[in-house]
Amino acid sequence: MQAPEIPRPLEARRSGPLEGIAELPGDKSISHRALILGALAVGETRVAGLLEADDVLDTAAALQHLGATLSRGDDGEWRICGVGVGGLAEPADMLDFGNSGTGARLVMGAIATTPITAIFTGDASLRKRPMGRVLDPLSRFGATFAARRGGFMPLSLCGAGRPISIEHHVEVASAQVKSALLLAALNAPGCSRISQSALTRDHTEHMLRAFGATIAVEPLPRGGEAVMVTGEAELRPACVIVPRDPSSAAFPLAAALLVPGSEISLPGVLLNARRNGLLETLREMGAEIETTNVRQSGGEKVGDLVVRSSPLAGVEVPPSRAPAMIDEYPILAVVAAFAEGRTVMRGLSELRVKESDRLAGIVRGLKAIGADVEELADGLIVDGRGIDGVRGGARVSTHMDHRLAMAFLIAGLATREPVSVDDSTMVRTSFPKFRPLMRSLGAEMMSPRR
Ligand code: S3P
Repeated sequence: MQAPEIPRPLEARRSGPLEGIAELPGDKSISHRALILGALAVGETRVAGLLEADDVLDTAAALQHLGATLSRGDDGEWRICGVGVGGLAEPADMLDFGNSGTGARLVMGAIATTPITAIFTGDASLRKRPMGRVLDPLSRFGATFAARRGGFMPLSLCGAGRPISIEHHVEVASAQVKSALLLAALNAPGCSRISQSALTRDHTEHMLRAFGATIAVEPLPRGGEAVMVTGEAELRPACVIVPRDPSSAAFPLAAALLVPGSEISLPGVLLNARRNGLLETLREMGAEIETTNVRQSGGEKVGDLVVRSSPLAGVEVPPSRAPAMIDEYPILAVVAAFAEGRTVMRGLSELRVKESDRLAGIVRGLKAIGADVEELADGLIVDGRGIDGVRGGARVSTHMDHRLAMAFLIAGLATREPVSVDDSTMVRTSFPKFRPLMRSLGAEMMSPRR
């Protein structure tokens, strides 16, 4: 078992106007999928702009254990020599996914219909996250598993020797669960039909098409959609260009809105309609965010953003928008604390099973820095105190959660007194250059004196 890491506190202070260009890292969701589908294709897949952060690198290491060959060129391009659908080899050691629920759950799907056994584990945060939501439906393909009571890691998954195709409705609004089932369907004879009432991110569907899978999508009469995948697929390799991550963009973007006099640009950000809930909400709050140069890149919509500091008003966020901004609620809650008036966010029970219980973490953090917030069973009410109204002057606990750490550091750029976080090490799971990037824009972020 690994020794726990030494926590690294970090502090943010009220900063002068932010300006410059924020070159953001590659999208995390697309990066995981590019590696996994590359490993399942026959031949060499190339990936440009891959997110080189712990979460994705843990998936890369797992795929090597499963027999794929991955390498990185000096130009930053990754090459994956795939083993074909059904060709993954039994790993000789445990697969350790660190902090990454996406990596773990998607790879569970990829092996569930191949007759190999793998043991999955992760860090203390991942070992508390529910895996039954993906293991139970995967067992319908014929896979078997043994997990800790409650469906927690470490767990072993034994892929089906004679998989069967399934029809399954995914109740939970999770793209990870849907994607795991779509990946499992690739090696099950016949056509599997996976439906979901929520419209969760559709990168797996886009990328399956690019890799040559036979896939169809149809709307459900009462909302949502069904995805049909034909099994025993032969995937051909692809060239993937990973757009920049909107969930990482959210942090410098929010900082520019909150720090008076700021103007920053964020080129090449993914604008997939299933990921743009934060931009929509911020614009409703009065944010000045310009989108230009909208284009298609690698099968996804991308564009350049320019953001200027703006007076913001509280809004009611429709619960139906949650899947399109699920990772952005921590930073939205911070922004709402500096707006004028009340922001209501509901339909967020999924936030309780992220890298931490994010609803509880946001509430504790906001209260610590002097903001007005109320925790609901499935949401938050934030009463904004205006741009100069939040005190700060606290150390916030981040519970091994990268997004809580970044959200509260952004808060500290606008509070009257500095804000520190107890540990910033987890930021490297999704945004390793967060601190140098924020500093290059003019943000004051440093190791605290105490
Ligand atoms: C992801 C889906 C979301 C999101 C996560 C990435 C994905 O999780 O929170 O950061 O890449 O499919 P859920 O599917 O559990 O909502």
